[in-house]
Amino acid sequence: FLLKRTLTSIRHYSTMCSLEDAKKVAAFKAVDEYVKNNYIVGVGSGSTVVYAVERLAERVNKEKLNLVCIPTSFQARQLIIKHKLVLGELEIHPQLDVCIDGADEVDENLTLIKGGGGCLLQEKIVASCAKQLIIIADHTKNSVQLGDKYKKGIPIEVVPISYVPIKNKIETMFGGELVLRMAVAKAGPVVTDNGNFILDWKNFKQTKDWQKINAEIQLIPGVVETGLFIGMAEKAYFGQEDGSVKEQ
Ligand code: 5RP
Repeated sequence: FLLKRTLTSIRHYSTMCSLEDAKKVAAFKAVDEYVKNNYIVGVGSGSTVVYAVERLAERVNKEKLNLVCIPTSFQARQLIIKHKLVLGELEIHPQLDVCIDGADEVDENLTLIKGGGGCLLQEKIVASCAKQLIIIADHTKNSVQLGDKYKKGIPIEVVPISYVPIKNKIETMFGGELVLRMAVAKAGPVVTDNGNFILDWKNFKQTKDWQKINAEIQLIPGVVETGLFIGMAEKAYFGQEDGSVKEQ
């Protein structure tokens, strides 16, 4: 009996993928299905995008694809340079064929929370210039409603002098708590690639009305951008524990 149980658990364990494997299968599938020769490609930010850039580089080398890559952050720029891909910019390529990016949470309507890495503003600008935004993630990011799984809050990028009034206004208007994102060891606030601060909106109420709430938040003076991506994503790929990829 014990031997049988041990063999079953070994078999079960060997079919389970790590989160890194789940990110990788999702990223590879998205790049294979959505990137074609002569494309201008938006490169998102975060740990899952690392695999997407790895796959882009493999395909450029093997298939001799001619691609221009537009970064969404300092990290994305570094990845593009490291893999010897062609680095582009929006000034020269204001229209992209596709943008491939990660997300912190994806609900059943493909509404996203992004900005866990603080790159939401450039990510939203680049995605808004792309014909298609394709999301890559592991299975832990796939939820029914925003806030079901991701507990770090909705990031809101703000002009530094306005962070206290914006915090007070949003808490009064919609409830929850806005917390200034601090750097490691709380040495000071996180400063984005654009020189701004980030407020993480935690314990917000569940709602289906993100469009309206997002529009109201964006009207508050000092708000630069929110990490709510509504009606932007075309498709999401979620790497699963068994190594398969779920498409939504
Ligand atoms: C950065 C982002 C990232 O795409 C998001 O945080 C997901 O990152 P990861 O792939 O590391 O989970 O929005 O601002």
